[in-house]
Amino acid sequence: MSLSDAARAVRENAYVPYSKFKVGAAVRTPSGAIHAGCNVENAAYPEGTCAEAGAIAAMVAAGETEIAEVYVIADSPTPVSPCGGCRQKIAEFADGAVKVTLATTDGDEFETTVADLLPGAFNPRQMERT
Ligand code: THU
Repeated sequence: MSLSDAARAVRENAYVPYSKFKVGAAVRTPSGAIHAGCNVENAAYPEGTCAEAGAIAAMVAAGETEIAEVYVIADSPTPVSPCGGCRQKIAEFADGAVKVTLATTDGDEFETTVADLLPGAFNPRQMERT
């Protein structure tokens, strides 16, 4: 299954009784494995989690910690824009040059990079001297 198909498929499982806004995310690792996640909301609204966070959690649970590519999809008028927190979560595991594709369910895609999404990101590489 392609990265886009994985994100599109997992989006169907999103638990979104409050926003009704389903999001799917998938990350590919250097091994070629794909890990997917959807948003999971909560009656205590701040406890909800984003699709990107779910995909990253699945990746780490599977024993991998490096992202080679990201795909995020939602039924948005323009390609869905990851929230600030998710940009930081992606930057934890991806180099700046890593490709991120943002998509609508209608098939509109916008290709960007981790560095463009979060310029000057603080990431683990900055603590290499400690
Ligand atoms: N959401 C994501 O899962 N990822 C994004 O990139 C944007 C927003 C979710 C959070 C919440 O469940 C819903 O979309 C509305 O904000």
